[in-house]
Amino acid sequence: MTQLENHQIAPSPNHPMSTIGVVGAGQMGHGIAHVMLRAGHNVLLLDTSQAFVDAGAKRIVKGLARDVEKERLTEEQRQQAVTRVKATTVLADLAAADFVIEAVTEKFEVKADVFHSLESHCPPETIFASNTSSISITKLAAATQRPTKFVGLHFFNPVPVMKLVEVVPGLQTAPETVEKAIALAASAKKTPVRVNDFPGFVSNRVLMPMINEAVFCLMEGVADAAGVDNVMKLGMNHPMGPLELADLIGLDVCRDIMMVLYESFHDSKYRPCPLLEKMVAAGWLGCKTGRGFYEYPRS
Ligand SMILES: NC(=O)c1ccc[n+]([C@@H]2O[C@H](COP(=O)([O-])OP(=O)(O)OC[C@H]3O[C@@H](n4cnc5c(N)ncnc54)[C@H](O)[C@@H]3O)[C@@H](O)[C@H]2O)c1
Repeated sequence: MTQLENHQIAPSPNHPMSTIGVVGAGQMGHGIAHVMLRAGHNVLLLDTSQAFVDAGAKRIVKGLARDVEKERLTEEQRQQAVTRVKATTVLADLAAADFVIEAVTEKFEVKADVFHSLESHCPPETIFASNTSSISITKLAAATQRPTKFVGLHFFNPVPVMKLVEVVPGLQTAPETVEKAIALAASAKKTPVRVNDFPGFVSNRVLMPMINEAVFCLMEGVADAAGVDNVMKLGMNHPMGPLELADLIGLDVCRDIMMVLYESFHDSKYRPCPLLEKMVAAGWLGCKTGRGFYEYPRS
């Protein structure tokens, strides 16, 4: 286990017993870890390789420094926050977590495997949450031995900025688990909205088909990327165009969510646009790879 700035993990001032495990240090995982630290929790951040976990930790440190610049945290709170995170590649280190939030690749098998492995390390009272965008919480919960202590906790990108968290109980989730999930989201100054477990919940059931249709418009030459985005920004008052938003989310994530909707509803209206598939195959995944519908020069 490596520790940021070589400090001992300190008890959190606001929530003495709240240690949050975050599995996956990517776009969402590092953001979730960041807001949990900002809320005063301890964080155990895990990814598959030291390079990934270090990259996530680096982004958190940068984010906390930005919080000081924007006067969301004092310098003292920032210094305190960095002592409360441990970055690790060893799953057994998450045994100390009260609540584990999984934010790995949007594939059922990958997530189920993570929860299966976690189960041998975490005590039965630890609550498991998934940040899945679209996979059934009931199905993920049923793959564990603790379906009553399993809940969907769907944060939005970028996590430090977006207010919404969809809280999604599975069929077997206990009411106390939902209450704890709502309290955790609220402690991070988010607005939890309870949503029932259906593919894509509300957010991606509505958003992803719109993004996918925007990609069809581009593929069919209805307009270029800027044209599609300008129509939605200037005509519908969307703060970002759907193609810009797809680049921010990650085109692989968008494709994976469309596949979950397609396979869950067995309805061809959810088929991913072939251009989206092609761009994912090329590795043009949006902001995170420097190229998607737009280009993002590396500084
Ligand atoms: N990107 C978004 O806008 C967004 C928004 C809401 C929810 N989500 C959901 O959050 C989850 C993560 O998405 P992301 O955009 O952060 O993806 P990402 O690719 O940026 O990060 C995923 C991370 O998980 C790690 N990982 C993969 N398998 C692992 C394992 N077995 N153990 C530990 N770490 C593992 C990867 O190395 C990577 O760092 C997905 O379920 C996605 O649907 C994404």
